[in-house]
Amino acid sequence: MPDRSLPPHVPSGPPGPPAVPVASGVGGPSLRWTEEGISVVDQRALPHEVRRLRLRTVDEVIDAIRSLAVRGAPAIGLTGALGVALSARRNTVAGGSVDEAAVRADAERIATARPTAVHLAWAVARVLERLPDGPDAVLGTALRMIDEDVTANRGAALAAAELVAGLVPDRPLRLLTHCNTGRLATAAGGTALGTVLELAARGRVAEVLVDETRPLLQGSRLTAWELGEAGVPYRLCPDSAAAAAMARSMVDCVLVGADRVAANGDTANKIGTYALAVAAARHGIPFVVVAPESSWDPTLPDGTGIVIEERDADEVTSVAGVRVAPEGARVFNPAFDVTPAELITAVVSEARVLRPVTSARPVTSAHRVTSA
Ligand code: MRU
Repeated sequence: MPDRSLPPHVPSGPPGPPAVPVASGVGGPSLRWTEEGISVVDQRALPHEVRRLRLRTVDEVIDAIRSLAVRGAPAIGLTGALGVALSARRNTVAGGSVDEAAVRADAERIATARPTAVHLAWAVARVLERLPDGPDAVLGTALRMIDEDVTANRGAALAAAELVAGLVPDRPLRLLTHCNTGRLATAAGGTALGTVLELAARGRVAEVLVDETRPLLQGSRLTAWELGEAGVPYRLCPDSAAAAAMARSMVDCVLVGADRVAANGDTANKIGTYALAVAAARHGIPFVVVAPESSWDPTLPDGTGIVIEERDADEVTSVAGVRVAPEGARVFNPAFDVTPAELITAVVSEARVLRPVTSARPVTSAHRVTSA
């Protein structure tokens, strides 16, 4: 058997802006490959407990993605890619030949574990391209994608920070963000939250209003935790208070991430994002999406084709495990919504600042499938 031991994963330095160290922060990086399986921060336990999960099987990978132990579009894509690497190893027989049909069946199950974020199916497809070259090639590509995500997030956050800093040049900013787009949701650095952290590092943040992000509270549990860790001043607010905060001039700019951006710039993101964009437009407040190029889906002309995940009724009928709704209550629980491009001030990636977004054209599909 070939020696499959690998040195600890260290991201290579990006050609452009410096990368945020992958292992920054309590608990270590959101995800990493180890010889015993995929190690992820269990985001369900935060902020009360910082613990890591070891994913040793494809079923465990799928369960971690579905249960939001690992979550955030880039993070689930990268975990899915590592899951295919796991499968490729497990399905390699003595002599080195791979049971490709078994790996492809696993890959299909991983790719469809959650439907909305483009990253999952894209990342799985990208590593599968290397399957004929063997399990080490699959793993090598997955690890390279982790490096690329770090670099892309850093580039997007720097570009978005420039843009947002210029909106109100003369005083520290009041920002509002939704869900969690930080280091937990990505390989490192974060997108919209990475922008907030970059602005804070420049002394340009007065306060961040953090939407609690009902029903799973990614804002109150995860974004608040990350901002606290970074020492950035924040206040939590119920999602339903965001429009009132805008009306009271408490918000200079809304910053969010993306799960999938259609070719015309329509953007799927955590449920509640659309309502924020409507309110921001009403109050003339810039609404900025920070998302790596990997978030674009050039196969969809607009947002109507984006599949929106619907999640269990329990997430709405219960709060912290305690039933609050009457027995038999029926529930509408979409995990995401679509914000039309015309409500978005700018979509910022590592490659471009699209403004207005309605002029959006995908750069090419080349960034999406790159053979290593
Ligand atoms: O259901 P989640 O928590 O995976 O949803 C995450 C979001 O909607 C994020 O805003 C998006 O994935 C961007 S993360 C950089």
